[in-house]
Amino acid sequence: MDLVILKETRDGESRVALAPDHIRLFTDLGFTVRVEAGAGSAAGWSDGEYAEAGASVAPDMEGALRGARVVVKVRPPLPEEILKLPPQALLISFLSPADPDPAPALAERGVDALALERVPRTTRAQRMDALSSQATAVGYVGALMAASHLPRFFPMLTTAAGTIPPARVLVLGAGVAGLQAIATARRLGARVRAYDIRAAAAEQVQSLGATFVQAALPAEAEVEGGYARELSGSEEDRQHQLMMEEIPAADAVITTAQIPGRPAPRLITAEMVERMAPGSVIVDLAADTGGNCEVSRPGETIRHGPATIVAPLQPAARLPQDASRMLGRNIAALLKEMVTEGELVISEDDDIVDAALVVRDGRLRKSQAGG
Ligand SMILES: NC(=O)c1ccc[n+]([C@@H]2O[C@H](COP(=O)([O-])OP(=O)(O)OC[C@H]3O[C@@H](n4cnc5c(N)ncnc54)[C@H](O)[C@@H]3O)[C@@H](O)[C@H]2O)c1
Repeated sequence: MDLVILKETRDGESRVALAPDHIRLFTDLGFTVRVEAGAGSAAGWSDGEYAEAGASVAPDMEGALRGARVVVKVRPPLPEEILKLPPQALLISFLSPADPDPAPALAERGVDALALERVPRTTRAQRMDALSSQATAVGYVGALMAASHLPRFFPMLTTAAGTIPPARVLVLGAGVAGLQAIATARRLGARVRAYDIRAAAAEQVQSLGATFVQAALPAEAEVEGGYARELSGSEEDRQHQLMMEEIPAADAVITTAQIPGRPAPRLITAEMVERMAPGSVIVDLAADTGGNCEVSRPGETIRHGPATIVAPLQPAARLPQDASRMLGRNIAALLKEMVTEGELVISEDDDIVDAALVVRDGRLRKSQAGG
């Protein structure tokens, strides 16, 4: 069973699906691991490190893919890459966000595909949860970006030159990324407030030493799987009023709000940004799905009135070593469930495989919209 690690080709992507440290997890399962030359270089790992860890190195993509049973990647493959994948191979990677949806082309090529973002958030699948592992990196990176763009300290400091009050940080969306942003900003000494439409987030926010901000919605906003639903018009009005008070009172805002399968909710308007204090910062971590701030430009850092707005794409790629290590462990845990006596068995009766398997034997099992 040949397992191939491909080099990422999308702009700004510095992660790799497997770190050299984790090759052994795959050889122990019975895989022979091959890496495309340069696959780890953007994360700081040389081909030599992969070779020392037990992988062979192929000079190019075509060479790497010859005879591949499993192909691992971080980001969705590009149309031209799909045409190089060997039919009957199993691709494991994120398949979303991507335009066009790669799934129909994978089906046409006859490549089976497991989408990492579809692994269910169940207890058994926790170790395979790549959305969570990458969101952890996103929240951490977001808090550091806010601290580095703010022209002030995060912590309270008492010095001979006077006392400096702590920065006021507001985190919007308290899922996995938001909670990690709160924890990181707290470690840096900021005073943190956090808002989420799911009431269940309150306890987690408070346990990190932050203050939970509520919009008092008339109905529960949490749907199946712990995700958020879209708000109605009148609920959005309440949220708008709350944000009009909260945003101008914050020195740094870190936004992480998402609704699965939908564009990111717009929480911050241009008017709110214009009411912020000079030097304020917004880090919009939902830029990949359009952004939580009306004036964000995905992939850019801009000034709008008194504030700097940072909207990084794929922020987890800014922490490539640990983000890749976590992803590699997620993939190893997934494959461990699928290997029986040295054979890869793709069983649609397994709830994790059933949920994540998007393409099988040339048949499209799920669409990008979530069906
Ligand atoms: N294995 C597990 O049990 C497991 C693992 C990870 C996450 N989860 C749960 O899954 C759920 C989703 O987590 P996620 O990090 O993937 O979320 P996500 O990335 O889909 O969204 C981020 C956050 O944005 C919030 N949000 C959406 N609209 C908003 C709005 N208008 N205003 C403010 N906030 C808004 C959501 O409630 C969520 O907390 C959570 O309940 C989390 O606890 C469970």
